[in-house]
Amino acid sequence: MSLTVKPILPRFGAEVSGVDLTKPLDAAQRREIVDTMDKWGVNVYRNTGLNDEGHIAFSQIFGYLERAPAATGRKTRHKYREIFDASNLDADGNIIQDEMLMLHKKGDQLWHTDSSFMEMRTSYSLLLCYEAPPEGGHTWFADTRSAYDDLPQAMKDRIEHLEVEHSLWESRKKAGFPLTDEDVDSRPKARQPLVMPQASTGRKSLYVAAHARDIVGMPSDEGRALLKELIDWATQPQYVFSVKYEPGDMVIWDNLASMHRGGEYDSKKYRRDMRRTTVREGTPPEIADDPFAEYFKASLGNGVIGSKPQPAPAA
Ligand SMILES: [Fe+2]
Repeated sequence: MSLTVKPILPRFGAEVSGVDLTKPLDAAQRREIVDTMDKWGVNVYRNTGLNDEGHIAFSQIFGYLERAPAATGRKTRHKYREIFDASNLDADGNIIQDEMLMLHKKGDQLWHTDSSFMEMRTSYSLLLCYEAPPEGGHTWFADTRSAYDDLPQAMKDRIEHLEVEHSLWESRKKAGFPLTDEDVDSRPKARQPLVMPQASTGRKSLYVAAHARDIVGMPSDEGRALLKELIDWATQPQYVFSVKYEPGDMVIWDNLASMHRGGEYDSKKYRRDMRRTTVREGTPPEIADDPFAEYFKASLGNGVIGSKPQPAPAA
């Protein structure tokens, strides 16, 4: 097999075709697909024909799939815990009108990397489109490897060994969710390197995101200014592109080599049904079950966002 790869930017993102993802893949096909991801950071596959089962089966070629907390006493739209709901729909398939829940989801429109607030990091996310709004609702991607490569050497030296605390609630606060600094600080955080090495390519990336709150050992105002400077740097036009979806399209991104954000759309008017699987970075399956349940239990207490109990958001 030889994939057809059309770069989107010279160093980042590619439209990929030439393989039927609904069929079992042999070792050589899997290798080529993974290598293409490593090289380009974001891959777009159009009109895949995948359903939930196929989405899960294909995603497993990249590693262990994270699972959302088990649904107890609440209805869910999906029967598989490997499918994270990135839609604007409730469990009955109706458009969410709950203002607090909408505000919570608005955090996904800030530049971020999925699950950087978890100690066990997410490597790949695979987002499959079932319904797309007629206007807006793109996903934007930023090339955090090339952004790192292009930094002045003095900045590379300054940030090389820094660590950053990430919190889901930091990005929700930035998006306008009513939280105080004390609320964010009292909830779990994960400590991550600011410069992320990528073993498969030898490259490094800027591991920054809206979830990033403070740089360890640095005064808050100084650390937050530096994080903002790096996010602004990595989201300059030469590092950024967007993807428009049709049903069946799937985008795969490497969270350790990119940032992304959801584009605006009229979420009270248009349905947007997107479903995501996420791959855990290099963790053996036997210890890789669902820390999300613990995280949200510790973060939310009664598990309520908005007026009803909700599953873990796809953030
Ligand atoms: Fe995301």
